[in-house]
Amino acid sequence: MTESSVCRVCEGTVRAFLDLGRQPLSDAFPREGETDGEFFYRLVVGACADCSMVQLLEEVPRERMFREDYPYYSSGSSVMREHFAETAKDLVYTELTGGDPFIVELGCNDGIMLETVRAAGIRHLGFEPSSGVARVARDKGVRVVTEFFEESTAKAVRAEDGPADVIYSANTFCHIPYVASVLRGADALLGPDGVFVFEDPYLGDIVEKTSFDQIYDEHFFLFSATSVKAMAERFGFELVDVRRLPVHGGEVRYTLARAGRRVPSRAVGELLAAERDDGLHEPATLAGFAAAVARVRDDLVALLRELRDGGHRVVAYGATAKSATVANYCGIGPDLVAYVCDTTPAKQHRLTPGTHIPVRPAHVFQDAYPDYALLFAWNHSQEIMAKEQGFREAGGRWIQYVPDVRVV
Ligand code: SAM
Ligand code: TMP
Ligand code: ZN
Repeated sequence: MTESSVCRVCEGTVRAFLDLGRQPLSDAFPREGETDGEFFYRLVVGACADCSMVQLLEEVPRERMFREDYPYYSSGSSVMREHFAETAKDLVYTELTGGDPFIVELGCNDGIMLETVRAAGIRHLGFEPSSGVARVARDKGVRVVTEFFEESTAKAVRAEDGPADVIYSANTFCHIPYVASVLRGADALLGPDGVFVFEDPYLGDIVEKTSFDQIYDEHFFLFSATSVKAMAERFGFELVDVRRLPVHGGEVRYTLARAGRRVPSRAVGELLAAERDDGLHEPATLAGFAAAVARVRDDLVALLRELRDGGHRVVAYGATAKSATVANYCGIGPDLVAYVCDTTPAKQHRLTPGTHIPVRPAHVFQDAYPDYALLFAWNHSQEIMAKEQGFREAGGRWIQYVPDVRVV
């Protein structure tokens, strides 16, 4: 591929290595009869030849994605509720121990993390531009502004509330192409010893598992320790800790401090060395990943067609944003998958983005088990397998496509 763009971190040259084609907004579920005005963009991903950051070549305007009716509610998963309660406690006991500490979260969503901080009586503020999910957080007593975090809004908080000890963000920083503005905002808002902690899907896991569905409009960057370190240094920060997390198919929690204020942990050096040894950023590795993605698509489409032609009933489980990439790249519509079941009321009785598979409430699955269920929400597999044991007992089979296509 010869396509290129300008790096959003360092203004170097981003060279494309994977083209996932024309794609809809991953979190826009049209109603039946309202599919005409659907927005599409081109989903192409590349790596910066200068700073190594992996990123999309085309940016979707943020107001199209993060809006009043943004349908992703973080608290829909019990595993994630537990994860964020633990995360909050961790921060409270490690970083928020001084007098009157203050924490700011980017993308607090329905308050899944900050509700624990609030219960501990700690001063906090969530930034959440999607007003529907923000309302849920506010109803829990969490303090929220319905704004995008960026340089100007961060400075306004600094003026109003004083310096922050922690800026925290989960599954949000990688959604933000305007990194310079965010990191200048973090610089303005954090106290001298403050930290910026964020966790996002890890490029190393994505390449290892061929989990190309982690690539969609909202996931503008696919971070690694190598690229985050370089990014931090451009803005006066230093990568001082990394921790691999099992959630959402494999993430890394990065901690940035002001340059020279903390000694980087051993884990930082180890992850950087592993990325170097594995050749994670080598063009050959990324080209190999792209080839593996095409294989998964071919295998998955062949299997679904074979099952359809054999008269089997196939449905999907979890109308995830990730599955928009899979469905649209592979051309999976209602001819191959009868419906997708999902627990989110805001997605139910609508159609999946782009390929228009009907979304049904979760109980529909148990009411009449299909023969096969395509596991779109594979990152929640532990939670789903635990509650859907009856499906396999009744003879049903799961179709998985991460790390490769298999029936289990
Ligand atoms: N932190 C939650 C979690 O991990 O489940 C929510 C993640 S959700 C995928 C991303 C959230 O980031 C959305 O609720 C979106 O509205 C919000 N968001 C997007 N851009 C933002 C920005 N510049 N500042 C703050 N929040 C932002
Ligand atoms: P996520 O992978 O972005 O967290 O999205 C998960 C989607 O799957 C979300 O729409 C909620 C749905 N879901 C279910 O339908 N059942 C479940 O048990 C879980 C955990 C999620
Ligand atoms: Zn760059």
